Amino acid sequence: MALYNQHFDSLKDSYLFSEISRRVAEYQTQNPDKSKRLIRLGIGDVTKPLAPAVVTAMQKAARELGRAETFRGYEDSGRGYPFLREAVANYYSGFNIKIDSEEIFISDGAKSDCGNIGDIFAENNTVLVTDPVYPVYVDVNLMAGRKIVYAAGNETNGFAPAPDDSVRADIIYLCSPNNPTGAVFTKDQLQKWVDYALKNSAVIVFDAAYESFIADESLPRSIFTIPDARRCAVEICSLSKTAGFTGTRCGYTVIPKELSVSDDLGNKKSLISLWKRRQGSKFNGVSYPVQRAAEAVFSPEGLRECRETLAYYRENSKIITDTFDRLSVTYTGGKHSPYVWFKSPFSAQQSSWELFDYLLREIQVIGTPGSGFGGSGEGWFRLTAFGTHELTKEAMQRLEKII
Ligand code: MLT
Repeated sequence: MALYNQHFDSLKDSYLFSEISRRVAEYQTQNPDKSKRLIRLGIGDVTKPLAPAVVTAMQKAARELGRAETFRGYEDSGRGYPFLREAVANYYSGFNIKIDSEEIFISDGAKSDCGNIGDIFAENNTVLVTDPVYPVYVDVNLMAGRKIVYAAGNETNGFAPAPDDSVRADIIYLCSPNNPTGAVFTKDQLQKWVDYALKNSAVIVFDAAYESFIADESLPRSIFTIPDARRCAVEICSLSKTAGFTGTRCGYTVIPKELSVSDDLGNKKSLISLWKRRQGSKFNGVSYPVQRAAEAVFSPEGLRECRETLAYYRENSKIITDTFDRLSVTYTGGKHSPYVWFKSPFSAQQSSWELFDYLLREIQVIGTPGSGFGGSGEGWFRLTAFGTHELTKEAMQRLEKII
């Protein structure tokens, strides 16, 4: 008899964004006349096309695959072609961070690696996540049967909670700029987490998927700007939001050579060797045209073109936050993040999901209910800046009419 993984019983019935899609589809079936009015500011999916430099590189690579002399099959290592790993290492050196290309692993995106990394850790580790939290960190660890503890974010700590020495954790997921709150850890705040991890022999899984939205040079775009982070952290990054790769799929994970973990008896094993072993058995790499496209993101032309797109999305954040400033709505994010996280300006009795349904029904604006990201998100709501200027303005005008 095939038994299923009963840890799945501790998961919510459906993934947050699947539940949003379900409610929107139901609304559309019941209100076909209103479907055209829908404005989607829910899931953080980009709307601007790929940069021209990226498209040119992808087309060239596809043509190479169509000729016998330049055709390629499996990539030898499955860890990413050297040309892309070197381009990523070079990107880091632009921030004065030295990463060896051997420490970089190309993936099909941050979500996959945030989940897959769990394979190399024992089941009896305690995992710490901040709350509100990107649901993937919770789901993948529940699936593996791990205990999860929460560090609560709130208005008082600016949704950037500090470590609590009375709480013990072995694996810590941090996301900065944060999804969903848009809060960004300062260097001092991140240093505290690094100190905590070193003291507890814990590993930080640092999700830097939104680093390219940071506009202030004093804020850390990588955990490796913190001294000693190489001894306790891995960094996971993505081109989804930086370069519009949500459908193209490419990201990378950085595992420092000196980072090690222990068995029950305290014998050490390097994390990089465990990850290589895991990837060797379960991953054959990212397609060649996508890796060439990703390489082009880091070219001077690609970086310039992607920066223009990021500026476009930043303008949307400003449209949203200017409206909230005018209406005295409390919010975080928006400045160094494509997410604006706001406190419901309606009745305190209304739950985040009720607010979701209300906005869908009354003004056909789709956002993401804060409670979908954890208990500390109740009463809060997330809007993304990935729409068009026109629709973002329209959404805010509609919202303004009902606040
Ligand atoms: C989000 O909306 O939170 C993200 O787009 C989801 C993701 O990146 O997987």
